[in-house]
Amino acid sequence: TFVVTSNCERCRFTDCVEVCPVDCFHGDQTMLYIDPEECIDCGACVPECPVEAIYDESELPEELFPWQSINAKRAASLPVIMEKGEPYPGAEQRKKELGFST
Ligand code: SF4
Ligand code: F3S
Repeated sequence: TFVVTSNCERCRFTDCVEVCPVDCFHGDQTMLYIDPEECIDCGACVPECPVEAIYDESELPEELFPWQSINAKRAASLPVIMEKGEPYPGAEQRKKELGFST
């Protein structure tokens, strides 16, 4: 399965949801989470994220391991997000701080 990690927090660009064939992104106000029960491992969402927040679980860096269970837990209780929306306020600034050019 694929996993959304910390770079998504306070970015929430939502480009990822537009390409997901199975609508497995769920979200709260600050970020999105992938439902591991629904994700079909297509990988389409990875290049869409402007802050490279999405990883294949087999390629997760060690410090991001906790995000696996966070995605599973959060996705189970949050609504599905299917449409691209406004990013989190200040997302462009945070993107810069994370080292991605605009
Ligand atoms: Fe959706 Fe594919 Fe990304 Fe899984 S890997 S969340 S199915 S776009
Ligand atoms: Fe988050 Fe990137 Fe999607 S910032 S909402 S994982 S496009």
